[in-house]
Amino acid sequence: MIRTKIAGVGHYVPENVVTNHDLEKLMDTSDAWIQERTGIKERRWALPGSDDNPSVMGTRASQMAMKNAGIEADEIDFIIFATLSPDYYFPGPGVMVQDQLGIKEIGALDVRNQCSGFIYGLSVADQFIRTGTYKNILLIGSELHSGGLDKTTRGRGVSVIFGDGAGAVVLQPTQEEGKGVLTTHLHSEGKHAKELALLGPSTSHWVPEIIEKNDPDDLSYYPYMNGNFVFKHAVTRFGEVIGEALQATGYQTSDIDLLIPHQANLRISQYLQQKMGLKEDQVFNNIQKYGNTTAASIPIALSEALQEGKLKNGDLLCLAAFGSGFTWGSTLIRW
Ligand code: ACO
Repeated sequence: MIRTKIAGVGHYVPENVVTNHDLEKLMDTSDAWIQERTGIKERRWALPGSDDNPSVMGTRASQMAMKNAGIEADEIDFIIFATLSPDYYFPGPGVMVQDQLGIKEIGALDVRNQCSGFIYGLSVADQFIRTGTYKNILLIGSELHSGGLDKTTRGRGVSVIFGDGAGAVVLQPTQEEGKGVLTTHLHSEGKHAKELALLGPSTSHWVPEIIEKNDPDDLSYYPYMNGNFVFKHAVTRFGEVIGEALQATGYQTSDIDLLIPHQANLRISQYLQQKMGLKEDQVFNNIQKYGNTTAASIPIALSEALQEGKLKNGDLLCLAAFGSGFTWGSTLIRW
């Protein structure tokens, strides 16, 4: 039976570290508030004028993933790029990675599922690999949030949370007994789309209207998040969708060796850990260093978990995400 394995993982984050104390100089906030509510101590924000845009960061993460998989760029036969912060409104950044890596004219797909983007992309890739369509898929999650945040007191409920960075994996077929992606589960609930969204500029708020209004208080340019509402839905949906993956495969919570949840908020991860009865070292978190990097958070965390030796051959790995849309998803992988 052909399954999908993660053959190589990589990540890249901008050099520029922004601590909570740095944010205190920009807005009315405090290190204590941010740490207590989110667990975040610092994040990476690309320096204005640097070349750290989403496609370039994605390319850098991909180069590390390909090196770790032991393959060259010209062996990649499909690209999937998940982001909510593309370089341009269109085209999406997948084609830019194809160009930056100098790969032949393969397919490049852009996924727009925000924090769940990596799991959605993995699920799509899994179908292509299991059907034998592709042999080396590059799946990337990359975000540049810093340029689009309201870094004043007005935007503090959102801007302190988000960070920049990229993660990537190379996906390949495996016939090794019991190994690889065992199951994936995807969900959405569009009635809550506007609870966590960036609504303008867009087709419903086009440039001529923006120019005509010339309104400095038009908050539609910035991400909006109904934090409490999102938090409550997140903890419920994470639990549900992990349960769904366990049920589909016949495993119990206690069988999970490592859970890597999307790094939305350390409190969400800790709530999940306690509710599922997992030990602290069974849940990997690095939001303390990077903040919420949306579609990039799971592959960055996976890359660091591997570097830190947290994942061994044969381990049962669970990945789960929840975010804007609302969208959410999970997967179980036998490493
Ligand atoms: N510093 C200081 N005070 C602040 C800050 C800040 N950075 N931000 C908000 N506050 C204030 C508010 O103004 C409010 O003050 P008030 O009581 O005087 O009105 C108070 O702190 C409490 O604000 P809340 O928004 O109720 O704070 P909450 O405890 O909900 O924490 C947070 C906010 C951290 C955003 C939390 O709600 C959260 O993590 N939500 C979930 C985020 C998430 O999971 N997102 C999904 C993924 S992201 C994606 O898909 C793009």
